[in-house]
Amino acid sequence: MRGTPAPESSASPERPKTLPAQDGKSLLRFLTCGSVDDGKSTLIGRLLFETQQIFDDQLATLERDSKRHGTTGGDLDFALLVDGLDAERQQGITIDVAYRFFSTRRRKFIVADTPGHEQYTRNMATGASTADLAIVLVDARRGILPQTRRHSFIASLLGIKNVILAVNKIDLVGFDRRVFEDIVAEYADLADHLGVSSVVPIPISARFGDNVTRHSGSTGWYSGPTLLGHLETVEVDEPMASKPLRFPVQYVSRPDPDFRGFAGTVASGSIRTGEEVIVAKSGKRSRVRRIVAHGGDLEAAIAGQAVTVVLADQLDVSRGDVLVSPRSRPEVADQFAGTIVWFDEQPFLPGRSYILRTETDTVTSTITDLKYRFDVNDLSHQAAKTLEMNEIGMCNLSTQAPVVFDAFAENRATGAFILIDRLSNRTAGAGMILHVLRRANNIHWQSLDIHKRERALIKHQRPAVFWFTGLSGSGKSTIANLFEKKLHVQGRHTYILDGDNVRHGLNRDLGFTDADRVENIRRVAEVARLMADAGLIVIVSFISPFRAERRMAREMMADGEFVEVFVDTPFEECARRDPKGLYRRAISGELKNFTGVDSPYERPEQAEITLETMGRSPDELVEILEEWLSRRDSEATAASPEKGG
Ligand code: ADX
Repeated sequence: MRGTPAPESSASPERPKTLPAQDGKSLLRFLTCGSVDDGKSTLIGRLLFETQQIFDDQLATLERDSKRHGTTGGDLDFALLVDGLDAERQQGITIDVAYRFFSTRRRKFIVADTPGHEQYTRNMATGASTADLAIVLVDARRGILPQTRRHSFIASLLGIKNVILAVNKIDLVGFDRRVFEDIVAEYADLADHLGVSSVVPIPISARFGDNVTRHSGSTGWYSGPTLLGHLETVEVDEPMASKPLRFPVQYVSRPDPDFRGFAGTVASGSIRTGEEVIVAKSGKRSRVRRIVAHGGDLEAAIAGQAVTVVLADQLDVSRGDVLVSPRSRPEVADQFAGTIVWFDEQPFLPGRSYILRTETDTVTSTITDLKYRFDVNDLSHQAAKTLEMNEIGMCNLSTQAPVVFDAFAENRATGAFILIDRLSNRTAGAGMILHVLRRANNIHWQSLDIHKRERALIKHQRPAVFWFTGLSGSGKSTIANLFEKKLHVQGRHTYILDGDNVRHGLNRDLGFTDADRVENIRRVAEVARLMADAGLIVIVSFISPFRAERRMAREMMADGEFVEVFVDTPFEECARRDPKGLYRRAISGELKNFTGVDSPYERPEQAEITLETMGRSPDELVEILEEWLSRRDSEATAASPEKGG
């Protein structure tokens, strides 16, 4: 498979595998795009009909359906051939990517019919990810629409360099040359901007067949090719087989102790027995001893072929490794820049982790930085904090482990990725890699001096110590636990230090005299400092009744790292709740040195956050903490642009 890896949840059952050209005919993949009603389905139907891909029984059904549902007054309505589903007919839109196959004497074709409805950018991107050429349909009466621009932009992002500008319904404007030429001129500006290298404009009528497969008698002023004529002869980009070798290992095949082969599909380039290959991540070299395929051993295999490769040496190779050409190695990096098309209804959150899947790797990743968002109408860059559904932006990403890839411009198979939401498992976005920001080699070999900054960076976060203080029973632990859960789901690395558990271990020797409480807090502050140094977000939950020790803890941490959280619940309420029965015992005098009874509690004077718990749910209180943290992080990012994890 080439291009964007298949999305998890919307895998198209019709999606064809790469078809090697057995009969010598080349294969052209193209997609049609445009607004609703521009006539895509009619055009595809017409192409299928005129290249005689339609069987007699289908023709009979078509005649019958055209009378019943058609919009062409009893003539054959080719759109009905393509828009198969009743529901779609009723809505008047095509809602999924449909792949259709047809062939002529000169070439074979796979066409992706993608929907024109605004909210289906995702399908458009899916359909375009494997295409060599895009037919951009424009209704001659309506000219270039926002949708035309959006789709052309996505097609260009996905590496499509060849466009046919099909000015459709030319019959409805009286075959007027001026209308055609105005649209062509307007589109030329857009194409220039997008870097589309070849735009071939053709005036057509999909409904009546003008310039689709035969030259029209009504457009004497047009001397270019017919649409099919151009599709049959257009030279598309360099085929995948002529790019450098990329062979992702899908699994290690070990049917018996004497055989160890690496099974997979050649993503690009070719692999030949006797030739040297390199394992991308480890850099280890070997030679290809055998290439095993279904019918027996092969001399060589090219992009699209599924084979099992046996190497001459016993190398450590496993699933996820990539065998590559020693002459042209891919990048191995854990930070890179890319363009992202966002699909999900939930906008992305910088810092949230998503599963990033490429042709070769599946890793946890975060979008560390959204550089800008594209305005799809004029392609200008806009400042933005997030991407909403259908929006496209330029981002920096960082992955938890190094990923093997090429820049998308070099290789569409190894330069594309998708982002999967970890909770819903939906494909949330698709992306194209632009360039490396940090090579993996540098991480491991350049320096072995690992400092706090490096430890935090690898976790994509800034350390913090949330220091909860408040009476026994005020709700510290409940809030702390919920806060940790929320942070964890966001992919943050956390740890809770709680009076009730630390006093069972590290501080087992301490009681509740003033001196013991001071020592209790001193030790906990030291541990929190070490944990912050390890890059963690630490949540400390102790009564910590004395100002002096809280100030000492604050001073031990780096600037901006200590966050004092006063869990403010009135004494009467804590005594009323009395979850452990301690207040009752203290008030009766049975328990000595109890905070708030016969041992003091000094209210904070400079807490960063005060949580007044009365009448508020833990969820509401935790939201205050989350907001505080994300504000701190975005302020820090704005202040130091080189940070960003
Ligand atoms: S601190 O004052 O030294 O910060 P810490 O948070 O570690 O106290 O421990 C408080 C917990 O110990 C309370 O939640 C309660 O369950 C228990 N505890 C037992 N005796 C006392 C006491 N005399 N005063 C306060 N808490 C006590």
